[in-house]
Amino acid sequence: MAHIVGLTGSLRKASLNKSLLKNAALFLPESYTYTYADLSDLPLYNQDLEENLPEEVKQFAELCKSADGFLISTPEYNGMITGVLKNALDWVSRKNIGAPLATKPVAVMGATPGPGGTVRAQMNLRQLIFALDMDPVNRPELKLSHATMKFDDDGRITDFATLQVLEQLMGKFVDKVERSKE
Ligand SMILES: Cc1cc2nc3c(=O)[nH]c(=O)nc-3n(C[C@H](O)[C@H](O)[C@H](O)COP(=O)(O)O)c2cc1C
Repeated sequence: MAHIVGLTGSLRKASLNKSLLKNAALFLPESYTYTYADLSDLPLYNQDLEENLPEEVKQFAELCKSADGFLISTPEYNGMITGVLKNALDWVSRKNIGAPLATKPVAVMGATPGPGGTVRAQMNLRQLIFALDMDPVNRPELKLSHATMKFDDDGRITDFATLQVLEQLMGKFVDKVERSKE
């Protein structure tokens, strides 16, 4: 049993990265629970607000505390992760709200409509994961390029090569989560 939290840096309804996360969560064992973290109501980080934390931040921090591991699907904006994702991770990086990400397993992935597959944003995200002292799956890297052509109408991935990489990534992630609970 484990609880996994999914994050993406896109607030868009039809987000490719939200769809990728949903597909990733299908590879979790049945005994696991999964929660998608909606980041749309998180305020911009402001150290002054730490004295009296906004309710949305408290709820997000509690959700992260309850997690045994994280799935992060990052969009790429101008070669980097999005402000939405950075803002959320900055909030929960803070020691005075319990630093609920530190040491926890994380699987990274990302989707773009173009050819890049978020390769630059994922490098950027891995730097941040290092700063947050999280425990990433290093390989395989899941860089979903030309993503609009790789989902069916129900949002399921149809591309066999992508599904194979996703299965490998999730297998290694689940191993890490299991080991972290020993
Ligand atoms: C401000 C902005 C910057 C972008 N920069 C990049 C980029 O550097 N590389 C890239 O591959 N796509 C870039 N895109 C296109 C995104 O990959 C595309 O909008 C994608 O669908 C966003 O992810 P989502 O579908 O999960 O919302 C950019 C889009 C926006 C809005």
